[in-house]
Amino acid sequence: MAHGHAATPAAAPTTAWVEEVPFITTPDNVTLEMLDIAGVTAADHVIDLGSGDGRIVVTAAKRFGASGLGVEIVPDLVRQATETARRAGVADKTEFRVQDIFETDLSAGTVITLYLLPEFNLRLRPALLALKPGTRIVSHDWDMGDWKPDRTTTLEVPDKKIGLEKRSRVHLWRVPARVEGAWCAGARRLELTQTFQSYRAVLKGGDTKHDWSGRIDGVSVVPPVGGPLRPSLRWSEGALVATTGVAGLPAGTRFQRAAADRCTG
Ligand SMILES: C[S@@+](CC[C@H](N)C(=O)[O-])C[C@H]1O[C@@H](n2cnc3c(N)ncnc32)[C@H](O)[C@@H]1O
Repeated sequence: MAHGHAATPAAAPTTAWVEEVPFITTPDNVTLEMLDIAGVTAADHVIDLGSGDGRIVVTAAKRFGASGLGVEIVPDLVRQATETARRAGVADKTEFRVQDIFETDLSAGTVITLYLLPEFNLRLRPALLALKPGTRIVSHDWDMGDWKPDRTTTLEVPDKKIGLEKRSRVHLWRVPARVEGAWCAGARRLELTQTFQSYRAVLKGGDTKHDWSGRIDGVSVVPPVGGPLRPSLRWSEGALVATTGVAGLPAGTRFQRAAADRCTG
């Protein structure tokens, strides 16, 4: 896990960092768990960032019917992955490219897989959070700092090559819809504040006011379980639609981003 100073004399005015993630493969049971926890199907396009020998993308194609892209900085590994895909009979569904993960267009991915290092995950985080709401991100072992996973599982890996703990963690995030701000549906006004998957809502309209906090699960903006009933909302193409008829808000009510300080009916 080299992450050290470049071999230049101390006289250099700035510090240069050599950044690299070593090639260590994800064991097969962990690969399957990563694809399982993301619920990969034939409808998915899986992008593995730092694809190594291509095992995650090849398994996604062979076992789950998904298409996939692997990007990898080491040309020999890209050649090896391409050959593995050909031998596995999934060359038509998969592509491997010599490319820097930080220069990769992720927008076609419905599932992004990572086995990198914590600081790499953090550097990728803004680009991951900007992906289409509901996109699944799966990381082997490393998390995303204060963007907490939606789910984590732990697997025994008796022959794990690194670390003392012979276990792997698999973390799953669903990119939360970006709902922060004010929304209007006629005279009803919904104000939302958001931190990753957590939100607080204030709903005003007529004489009534409701406030609550809850979680965002991809495109679903869900109220807390228990306590007074609060509306469930669904993000859809830039609008928020009430999926339940509670708190004086009929099901199907459609909120658009507020254009002014007040909502008028
Ligand atoms: C820990 S390995 C994981 C390989 C594979 N994803 C797996 O889980 O088996 C990380 C891979 O990322 C590659 N890598 C590191 N930095 C990269 C970068 N900036 N762009 C593309 N690939 C990179 C490494 O060469 C290495 O093959």
